[in-house]
Amino acid sequence: MSERRRVIGSEQIEEAFRKGRLTFEILPGDIVTALAKETAQGRGIKLLDGPLEKAAVARTDGGTALMRGLTRRSPKWVAPRSSAPRNIRRLNKIALIGAGGVGGNIGHLAANADMVDEIALIDIVPGLAESAALDLMHASGITRSKTKLYGGSDLALVKDADVIVVTAGKARSPGMTRADLISINRRVIQSAAEQIKTQAPNSIVIVVTNPLDEMTTEMLRATEFPRERVLGMAGTLDSSRFRNALAEAAGVYPADVEAVTIGSHGDEMVPITSLAKIKGRAVSAFLSQDVIDDCAHKAIHGGGAVVALKKTGSATIAPAHSSLELIDHIRGARVGSVPVSVELKGEYGIDGVVLGVPCHLGQSGLVEVEQLRLTEKEKTALHAAADAIRQRLAN
Ligand code: 2OP
Repeated sequence: MSERRRVIGSEQIEEAFRKGRLTFEILPGDIVTALAKETAQGRGIKLLDGPLEKAAVARTDGGTALMRGLTRRSPKWVAPRSSAPRNIRRLNKIALIGAGGVGGNIGHLAANADMVDEIALIDIVPGLAESAALDLMHASGITRSKTKLYGGSDLALVKDADVIVVTAGKARSPGMTRADLISINRRVIQSAAEQIKTQAPNSIVIVVTNPLDEMTTEMLRATEFPRERVLGMAGTLDSSRFRNALAEAAGVYPADVEAVTIGSHGDEMVPITSLAKIKGRAVSAFLSQDVIDDCAHKAIHGGGAVVALKKTGSATIAPAHSSLELIDHIRGARVGSVPVSVELKGEYGIDGVVLGVPCHLGQSGLVEVEQLRLTEKEKTALHAAADAIRQRLAN
């Protein structure tokens, strides 16, 4: 690999910009200068972790070409070989603690994606996990998924799971904040952690239970797992809500929008408007500050908006997709960074607090926290989120 090591400077980024590129592939071992990163940011070019899958060039089969040549006919084009496979891992087992709306939908999406050999659904409500598993197995005659699903109420079903997603706990009712759930859901996390620790000591745990950052902290403490293997799913969801709001406001598709939120999964969420892009350009080129602020508000209060409409629980589908997104990053089906709640160890000048930041994930969980260039206002808001989480946990 050493002879292929490249130094990516600002000239290469400028060249990509001149060619109208919106992305630049960074290969393992590449050195990217600080100026190149700055240029990429200024030019709206996203640096993507490679190698990326590329369409294979149509090839001529040698034997066929020879035969055709001998019979004076032009070589026949044969179907291109599929490109070199990225290292996407099929998981052995996913365990879902909580088989309600979010857990059930994660089971559905994961089974449909046929990315895992078995899925254990677990819920204390008698029959809920079993019925969800049976229902999903009944669909396999149509989906042809090879994933085997089973359910039960025994937490020991987490045994040997690669990834465990914890959605169990009480959801908000209208008028409640996520923080109102701390004391109730803390106990749920503690009993889940006890079993995870003994039955699946090498697993990666994704916490979805609210209040997200506080419950991820509880899981980290109770399992005593390294921070790399205890992740909170929230920023993925909040960023998706933010992108949707910006897309609606600008009249473009969500796929045209790049934007993330960091901070807490609550009132101290920090939608990063300074780096948000629509079709590769700053959002301010499309939207007024008032409209951008309104989109940020919609991201912060998106979960509450669903609760207010539903009245008997919180969102299920978007949180399930967001959880699956993290699992896909873990198994190598997605590249680049994704917002996740992790314990910070000095990144962004914050230590010992779990909160949302963009992260690179891999098969052992957290690989690296990505450091974004934030404005002073955004930095202050991120620190305020850390202080609020710290304070809520101290009470
Ligand atoms: C939400 O924001 C469930 O907290 C989750 O919808």
